[in-house]
Amino acid sequence: MRVSEDMADLSVPESWSDFIEGSVYPDNAVPWRHDPAYTTILEHLGLRDSIGSHVASALQQAIGLVQAMAQVNVLDVVRGHRPAVGLSLGFGSNAQEPYDLLKTFELDCVHAYEWIGGHLIEAAKAFEGLRADDPRLTTRIRLHHGTVSDLSALNTSSICLIYTANMFNREIPMSEDTFERSMQEIVRVLAPRGCLISRGSAGVLEQSLARYLHVLLENPLVSVLQKES
Ligand SMILES: C[S@@+](CC[C@H](N)C(=O)[O-])C[C@H]1O[C@@H](n2cnc3c(N)ncnc32)[C@H](O)[C@@H]1O
Repeated sequence: MRVSEDMADLSVPESWSDFIEGSVYPDNAVPWRHDPAYTTILEHLGLRDSIGSHVASALQQAIGLVQAMAQVNVLDVVRGHRPAVGLSLGFGSNAQEPYDLLKTFELDCVHAYEWIGGHLIEAAKAFEGLRADDPRLTTRIRLHHGTVSDLSALNTSSICLIYTANMFNREIPMSEDTFERSMQEIVRVLAPRGCLISRGSAGVLEQSLARYLHVLLENPLVSVLQKES
């Protein structure tokens, strides 16, 4: 991890920084600082509160519903990919999102994106606390300080499972440009047969991705979409 020199208190990397891939920027010097939604979210703490608790049970519910409604076993889909790499988008203050994704689907690795640096550092510190029990955790959870509209650190077709919650909805500001670029990036990084699990979306994410992905499940609680093989 490279920590910006402007962040005096972080100039000596601490062991939790091993979980972070790439740079952590000061709030006012992030490459996406001109995105108006970023400024709004920074100003209004409530817009980034964690509201998607109980991630593991929600993932289990999604697996069961997709099996029942679409006769697709998402666990088998993931097991068919090696290495099985997941992606968590906009986890906010809920570090449980990338962690439960890793554990529930027995993934080899999860990349997790969040554009508020403070949340990224909180998550890295939380994972540092688990390192004694799982020394390889730093290779299995990779945190990125980035906007979900630029996933260029990830290779095309490299991700078999994406999880996102309470980000692509009308309450969380997002510019048209960021939204469109995010859709393109999701489709690009998703591997053939790979799935996306979405919670707390107002339907706009599903509507847009249905142009590229097959909808396995769509209901107010959770949606699951899959890329064609
Ligand atoms: C309401 S919070 C939801 C947090 C968590 N997913 C949950 O359900 O509890 C929305 C999160 O999305 C993040 N976010 C919004 N737009 C983003 C973007 N373009 N890139 C990265 N993160 C973004 C915000 O910073 C915030 O942490």
